[in-house]
Amino acid sequence: MTVKLVGFSGSLRRESLNTKLLNAAASYLPDDTELQIVSIAEIPLYDGDVEAKTGVPAAVEKVKDAIAAGDGLVIASPEYNNSVPGVLKNAIDWLSRPSSDIERVFAKRPTVVIGATPGSFGTTLAQVAWLPIMRTLGTDYWNGGRMMLPKANKAFADDGSLKDEDTAERLAKFMAGFVDCVMQSRLKQK
Ligand code: FNR
Repeated sequence: MTVKLVGFSGSLRRESLNTKLLNAAASYLPDDTELQIVSIAEIPLYDGDVEAKTGVPAAVEKVKDAIAAGDGLVIASPEYNNSVPGVLKNAIDWLSRPSSDIERVFAKRPTVVIGATPGSFGTTLAQVAWLPIMRTLGTDYWNGGRMMLPKANKAFADDGSLKDEDTAERLAKFMAGFVDCVMQSRLKQK
């Protein structure tokens, strides 16, 4: 049976390196796996008054339903000021509302954060900063590998593929490991 991953990028930029990394991940998947990429671009700033008055916006529900319909979640996160970027944290905050729906969307969901940066450290600190958030949401965070892409501004060819074969292999191995975790999780739930 096909493994269905869902992913989104935490950057809205057209030339986003994190979106490129996520797209590359979608092209280095094991057999019988697909990665549906959804966008957080339409998610507004969180406002408790809006939630109280009109509930969770349709753009948020759409992403929540996509995550819930998948077997595992892949988030490509930039690192801002050595931590998580506000745009993506805001999206996650809306996606965690109402809290009674966290179970459906995030709980026990195999999840992993990957990241790309033009800098030298590959978003290490952002990835660490996501851990307490992922724990709070009750995700089944995959710790079997890490996918960090430093110097990412030089990593992609014009067609979006990774220029360096070793990096492509590293990404393929990482995705295979994560998909393995997703399959184990599916077996446990049966
Ligand atoms: C950055 N950038 C950055 N990079 C990094 O490796 N560590 C950091 O702490 C930061 N801090 C930071 C703060 C702010 C406000 C911005 C705008 C940028 C650089 C960042 O990695 C770079 O802009 C990436 O290209 C952002 O990801 P996308 O948009 O290419 O996916």
